[in-house]
Amino acid sequence: MPRIHPGLIRRTHATSPLVARLLPICRDLRSSYRELTWLRDHAQHICRNAPLQNANRLLQSYVLRRSRGEPLQYILGTEYFGPLEIQCRPGVLIPRQETAASVTHLVNLLSSAGKTLPPRLRVLDLCTGTGCIPLLFQHEYYFRHKGQNDSFPRLDVVGVDNSSVALRLAEKNKRLQLAALRWSSSSTSTKHQSLKAMTFMYADVLRGEETLQLGTFDILISNPPYISSTDYWRNTSPSVRKFEPHEALVPPANANGSLNDAHDGDLFYHHLHDIALRVNAQIVLLEVADLEQAHRVSRALNGPWDGVEIWRDEPAARDENENTVCSSHLGSASIPILGLGNGRSVFAYRGRGAAWLGK
Ligand SMILES: C[S@@+](CC[C@H](N)C(=O)[O-])C[C@H]1O[C@@H](n2cnc3c(N)ncnc32)[C@H](O)[C@@H]1O
Repeated sequence: MPRIHPGLIRRTHATSPLVARLLPICRDLRSSYRELTWLRDHAQHICRNAPLQNANRLLQSYVLRRSRGEPLQYILGTEYFGPLEIQCRPGVLIPRQETAASVTHLVNLLSSAGKTLPPRLRVLDLCTGTGCIPLLFQHEYYFRHKGQNDSFPRLDVVGVDNSSVALRLAEKNKRLQLAALRWSSSSTSTKHQSLKAMTFMYADVLRGEETLQLGTFDILISNPPYISSTDYWRNTSPSVRKFEPHEALVPPANANGSLNDAHDGDLFYHHLHDIALRVNAQIVLLEVADLEQAHRVSRALNGPWDGVEIWRDEPAARDENENTVCSSHLGSASIPILGLGNGRSVFAYRGRGAAWLGK
């Protein structure tokens, strides 16, 4: 990372001490000014009914927190996930846009083949965190079917986590989406009803007996903790390590107590696959760290899946200059790698799921 010249910090300090404070963390003047504007707007909004000094004091404290590396999303309290503004708070992982792209792509695939969907589509999101995946799935699904006179399949979505802090935040996010919907559509709309019925529940994905209660689902989605302990120390930023929850990123030590295995980031996938079969899921979408992990996970999906694909960060994108569909080998079958960017998720379907996707 290029160093910042002390002269630049000194000169900036002369005109704006707050920008100078943000400079080491934002890395350039443009981003520092931009972040300062966001922080100032937020402080003024919070203190809108109080004297101006309060907003100034609050802004100073925000800048101090940010200069110590705290993610902007925890200070501002929200992050965008697709078009949705999702509440964030310390103790719960901040949603990432790459996750949103895979969810939207899946909804698009299902919606373009909408006529063959079951009368009620049941979706399970394991390791739900802020609830961003269920909320986005629901939002995109009803957006795609807008104007279809309610003649498309209903959606039942359940989010699961083992963190009570995350579950409370997911409930709050649902309430806020419901409140936003009340302004824009009638409270009897199918979208409203489906959002109202969305549930968030406690279960530990690594404990079989708890997940036995889940029932049956058509689609299983999960963005589980998947970073190996080695990669956590090697590849994550100090800000992530200091402020985001370790248990949301790195699986616990496995039964043998080994945390030094290069593949210890894979611990959840084996359990997720078991649960997918147990709840009778016909489609699964599992987020992964990179192409290497995607290959390992897709090889492990050697159960009754009719098709397995690896999706990159932008699964729908096509680059004219590149061969965007490559193949890797799974025994004798080959696995298509779709889209542009880093390997982001493993997608598999079987039985009725193939028909819903128009495969
Ligand atoms: C990578 S975060 C994903 C959060 C959210 N789905 C997203 O995409 O932003 C993983 C989540 O898994 C949860 N988690 C960790 N271990 C779990 C377990 N054994 N059972 C259920 N959830 C778990 C964490 O609390 C965290 O919210």
